[in-house]
Amino acid sequence: MITLLRIEASARMTRSLSRALSNDFFETWQSERPNDQVIIRDVGLNPPTAISENWIAGVFSDEESLTLVQREEVALSDILIGELIQSDIIVIATPMYNYGMPAALKAWFDQVIRINKTFSFDLARGDQPIEPIQNGKTLVILSASGEGGFSQGGVNVIKNHLHPHILECSKLLGVEKSYCVTIEYQEFNDERHSESVKSAHASIAPLVASIKKEL
Ligand SMILES: Cc1cc2nc3c(=O)[nH]c(=O)nc-3n(C[C@H](O)[C@H](O)[C@H](O)COP(=O)(O)O)c2cc1C
Repeated sequence: MITLLRIEASARMTRSLSRALSNDFFETWQSERPNDQVIIRDVGLNPPTAISENWIAGVFSDEESLTLVQREEVALSDILIGELIQSDIIVIATPMYNYGMPAALKAWFDQVIRINKTFSFDLARGDQPIEPIQNGKTLVILSASGEGGFSQGGVNVIKNHLHPHILECSKLLGVEKSYCVTIEYQEFNDERHSESVKSAHASIAPLVASIKKEL
């Protein structure tokens, strides 16, 4: 049995293309591996709080010396990190908002990328002082965007601050392997969009099969 962390980041509860992709992924996964544990963290519905001065002071202090306010400020971070640490596969279903990730998803990353919990910092490592504490995790990004051409070779690749940012942040969480399925051209609602929806959903079953083979 393994554990999957399912993160939903769309603010839309209805008509969301990324949520539909995620439903497809988990229906396929669970029909084949019903005993795996799935933790759902819906940051679109319940955005994590933004980190604060007390949060920062708290995570850089010894746990025994935290003030009551600092303890309260890092409590959510402790819960989210707990969910992350026990997960083997992280599935992030997300829209592109303003060429990057939704603020709620960035708030989740800010809460879980935490010194001495998910990464260590050591100046003896020279100009690369940060290393993840976890390892061996797999990431699946299921994304949707209104425009298109964000993949390698596409006309808008330079504007894509969604996938590279998620991938870079995820390395600090112990992600070593990643997969990405995208739906594009939602705002155009043309043939490119319908093709994109079709091929994204068609790629879910082979993706699940190939991840399963690596377990
Ligand atoms: C606030 C907001 C900002 C958006 N910014 C972008 C953008 O920068 N680039 C883009 O291609 N699409 C953008 N879109 C379109 C969404 O990415 C698209 O509607 C996508 O399908 C949303 O995901 P969902 O269907 O899972 O809700 C934006 C949509 C919203 C609501």
